[in-house]
Amino acid sequence: MFTEADALERDTADPGHRDLFHVPPADGGRYAEAAYLAGNSLGLQPKATRGDLLDDLDSWARLGVEGHLDAARPWLPYHGFLTDTAARLVGALPEETVVMNSLTVNLHLLMVSFYRPAGTRTKIVIEDTAFPSDSYAVRSQARFHGLDPDETVVRLDPADVLGYLAREGHEVALVLLGGVNYLTGELMDIPAITRAGHEAGALVGWDLAHAAGNVPLELHAWGPDFAAWCSYKYLNAGPGALGGVFVHERHLGDPAVQRFEGWWSTEPATRFEMTPVSRPPATADAWQISNPPIYAMGPVRTSLEIFDRYGMTDLRARSERLTGYLESLLDELPLTLVTPRDPDRRGSQLSLRIGTGSAHELAKRLRFEFGVITDAREPDIVRAAPVPLYCTYHDCWRLADALAHVIEEVR
Ligand SMILES: Cc1ncc(COP(=O)(O)O)c(C=O)c1O
Repeated sequence: MFTEADALERDTADPGHRDLFHVPPADGGRYAEAAYLAGNSLGLQPKATRGDLLDDLDSWARLGVEGHLDAARPWLPYHGFLTDTAARLVGALPEETVVMNSLTVNLHLLMVSFYRPAGTRTKIVIEDTAFPSDSYAVRSQARFHGLDPDETVVRLDPADVLGYLAREGHEVALVLLGGVNYLTGELMDIPAITRAGHEAGALVGWDLAHAAGNVPLELHAWGPDFAAWCSYKYLNAGPGALGGVFVHERHLGDPAVQRFEGWWSTEPATRFEMTPVSRPPATADAWQISNPPIYAMGPVRTSLEIFDRYGMTDLRARSERLTGYLESLLDELPLTLVTPRDPDRRGSQLSLRIGTGSAHELAKRLRFEFGVITDAREPDIVRAAPVPLYCTYHDCWRLADALAHVIEEVR
């Protein structure tokens, strides 16, 4: 049933939007293009990005400083051109959303506002497989507040979070979890954990690095206090691309919420009055500090417009079909699937454990002998994400075929 011809037929019946993207060459083997299954790590470049970026560069060449107001996409309000599309992507109100900085920087800025340990309520809950940057960030926040990070940061198996909040929630100041876990690919129950955190009296934030552009999100309705995500994985905005931030409406304009400020925190109408005291708007824009890097914003704008055009509902439907198909292929092989089987508890990524040899060596062989690009994460996991915008059923088939060859040899 799972032949190459069958995969190709599925691609004819259920095509994505691969022609919008540059797909790296396979560099050898039977196929011209790589089977690119690493969009959970770094998304592919949209073909539109280069032209859009050159337009913005041309504005600078032609206009110099006057580009702030006169460029086709003027630089002064430029970040605002990304707000509506970013808000739609994560199910937020535009005033709750801003694109700025990088992910971990944003997590710190948001913890300035929403990690306010007091009395015996000091703990930060993260998952035991939290991405290291998040772990370093929360530990350094604890130290910043004069607390012992080993006592303050509680690392939990995701399955234990609700129970812990019910038992020990009175000591928790902040719950900060990954919406989709980077290692296992598990999609957390964001609304239920958010509710439980709030019932325990804690604030709740989400790292959506592996969720934004991967699964539909309804941040405003689900009600977390804040969220942050990057744009270089499923959002295809390039290495180190600027991240996005969500601050729930209930906190906007609240003078009791502390923020670090700079000139981009103040409302644009009065920014150039050069007064010493800021007048922040009652929007997430108030969390901005510096004037934004336009040539980093451009690729995010281009990418968000692609998501806006095709919509997360359709993309998610194709994502479930592709990942379900890949799962069926992998079930024929002697390996362990780490990611939950239930499509409602995962995004597009499947994480595999081969059981023999190094995952890094395996990923290398897949790349250099078969032109199949995945990635490996310590200790022994290979991650593969058939992302719905540009991946094909044939990409999935190539991964399974290559794995079958390599596993056969290793055994
Ligand atoms: C879950 C998660 N959090 C944080 C980061 C770090 O992101 P940045 O380098 O943009 O701060 C990553 C990067 O891959 C990530 O996957």
